[in-house]
Amino acid sequence: MPGASSVLRAARPTVRAVTEQTKTERTKTEQASTTTSTTTNTAERRGAGPRTVVITGGGTGIGRATARRFADEGARVLVVGRSAETLAGTADGHPSVSTLAVDITDPDGPDAVVTAALERYGRLDVLVNNAAQGVPGELADLEPEVLDAQLATNLRAPMLLTRRALDALTETSGTVVNVSTAGSLGRRAWPGMSVYGASKAALDFLTRTWAVEFAPRGVRVVAVAPGVIDTGMATRNGTGEADYRAFIEGIAGRVPSGRVGRPEEIAWWIARLADPEGSYANGTVLAVDGALSVQ
Ligand SMILES: NC(=O)c1ccc[n+]([C@@H]2O[C@H](COP(=O)([O-])OP(=O)(O)OC[C@H]3O[C@@H](n4cnc5c(N)ncnc54)[C@H](OP(=O)(O)O)[C@@H]3O)[C@@H](O)[C@H]2O)c1
Repeated sequence: MPGASSVLRAARPTVRAVTEQTKTERTKTEQASTTTSTTTNTAERRGAGPRTVVITGGGTGIGRATARRFADEGARVLVVGRSAETLAGTADGHPSVSTLAVDITDPDGPDAVVTAALERYGRLDVLVNNAAQGVPGELADLEPEVLDAQLATNLRAPMLLTRRALDALTETSGTVVNVSTAGSLGRRAWPGMSVYGASKAALDFLTRTWAVEFAPRGVRVVAVAPGVIDTGMATRNGTGEADYRAFIEGIAGRVPSGRVGRPEEIAWWIARLADPEGSYANGTVLAVDGALSVQ
């Protein structure tokens, strides 16, 4: 059996070949149209028509706000989640938003999502890996199935979904936006949220690494790391309403900006990072947290 290093050695020429091919194609395009603007070239590569965006966890919170932001900016949006009811709430009043009720951790989930996007819209420009579960509890108290569910949703599903979407994103010079958290940035510890935090720290690593891996395909990978955003996420992961409200009120005073964030304030940054005009951002993990993580 070949060792890892020989597999890597064998893989390198392929990557280099793709890079060289891409460079040659770009040079040809530049020579053919030296007077055409970069914006026009990008538009030509992407093809005409509105962009198509897939958002996991699009039925609530940041995912819902992001779906509506992209729709307001003229995109066609497919929102994905397990609850058909909340997804329908996102699409209500937004005719360019369609829904798909699917569990992204199901073996067929990633294929169902990408197939639906391509069948409905014919293209995929932006994948927002937003769905997540964050169940509080110290490791000693976490049941293995709760631990597994968080890793499956926050980490394994984005891996398999991104993998499945990669060819379609390559066609459009598309973008992957991972939704991380400012809570696990840098050298911070996060007692009581170790598994959730670890899944997001790993997602940041994937963001940087995929940015380099996919660059020869013209696909960008970026992440937004929100601070505390009042979406009610904790109540959907087992925290009582009163405890959640007390947490939000308590932490607002610790945020240098003096308040917690709104889902729309994260949605705006997700849309900006995915915008073709923002295309020099790649491998970036952007904290949007009212300076909570840098104080
Ligand atoms: N709120 C914050 O303070 C905060 C801070 C930092 C980072 N974030 C991140 O922001 C993102 C959105 O969080 P949020 O605050 O908007 O929370 P949220 O409202 O609870 O959103 C999570 C979404 O994920 C979906 N989901 C969960 N498991 C799924 C699965 N297996 N398959 C498909 N969909 C699934 C849920 O819908 P269903 O249950 O219907 O499937 C829900 O709509 C998450 O990645 C979170 O980690 C949030």
